Amino acid sequence: MTLLTVLERTTTYLEGRGIPSPKFEAQLLLAHVLEMDRLQLFMQFERPLSEAELASLREPVRRRGSGEPFAYISGTKEFWSLDFEVGPGVLIPRPDTETLVEQAKAFCDDGEFFVADICAGSGCVGIALASENPELKLYATEASPEALAYLKRNIAKHDLSTRAAALRGDLLGPIPTSRPIDVVVSNPPYIARQELAGLDVARHEPGMALDGGPDGLDIYRRLIPDAARRARRAVLVEIGHDQGEAVAELFRRAGLTEVRVVKDLAQNDRVVVGQST
Ligand SMILES: C[S@@+](CC[C@H](N)C(=O)[O-])C[C@H]1O[C@@H](n2cnc3c(N)ncnc32)[C@H](O)[C@@H]1O
Repeated sequence: MTLLTVLERTTTYLEGRGIPSPKFEAQLLLAHVLEMDRLQLFMQFERPLSEAELASLREPVRRRGSGEPFAYISGTKEFWSLDFEVGPGVLIPRPDTETLVEQAKAFCDDGEFFVADICAGSGCVGIALASENPELKLYATEASPEALAYLKRNIAKHDLSTRAAALRGDLLGPIPTSRPIDVVVSNPPYIARQELAGLDVARHEPGMALDGGPDGLDIYRRLIPDAARRARRAVLVEIGHDQGEAVAELFRRAGLTEVRVVKDLAQNDRVVVGQST
């Protein structure tokens, strides 16, 4: 069977399983399994695939057909032009979260600087910030043991072991109060529990990364007062598109100043920023 025939059959299979953009997804899967990029794939359409290559395709195609995200199958996801290791048990970094990094970057000057990335997951937010400032020191906290394993792997992958600590525990709890923190950033779970059941994302990505309690605000209520007390400079959190006002009010009540709600590229409210006085 030629590569083109396999591509067509994979596309038809994925289409039948209701996977959006089946042709593109089939190309991604083949390129991943054959360890080539999509351009190389197009240039080798007539190449016959060996039995071994066909066999190694079956499981990834079956997984994608069951709805599992491609990033879990390939094991990596790009964020902030960096590669992050991901897999079942950790949230796949989303492009929207780059808005949080962009806003936080403005507070992370050159020079020694301490950032706490709370609910760090894969570590994409803190590691992206550390990639921008070679003197930035990072504390990244994470409650889930599965996600913590990816966080540690990504810290090592990006050569940050001497200036980043992956700490297991609840919110800011694992960071000793004696340690300085300049900026707190967080992309916590913020989806209202009753909305979660209907969402496709909840079928494969961990509930603990998504479930924000009855109204989605549970973590913000606990995190923001503590973050406001500890951050010397600023607190920034990602939010759901309809949570801007409620979270901005929590910022103001915690004593943060110059509170702003920032939109993402799709013009949805995405980040709340507040400064410590
Ligand atoms: C929405 S995900 C964000 C992950 C990552 N920061 C990102 O932007 O892709 C939230 C993360 O918070 C973790 N988490 C949930 N509750 C937590 C808590 N109380 N303390 C620390 N981490 C928590 C989850 O396991 C999950 O990895």
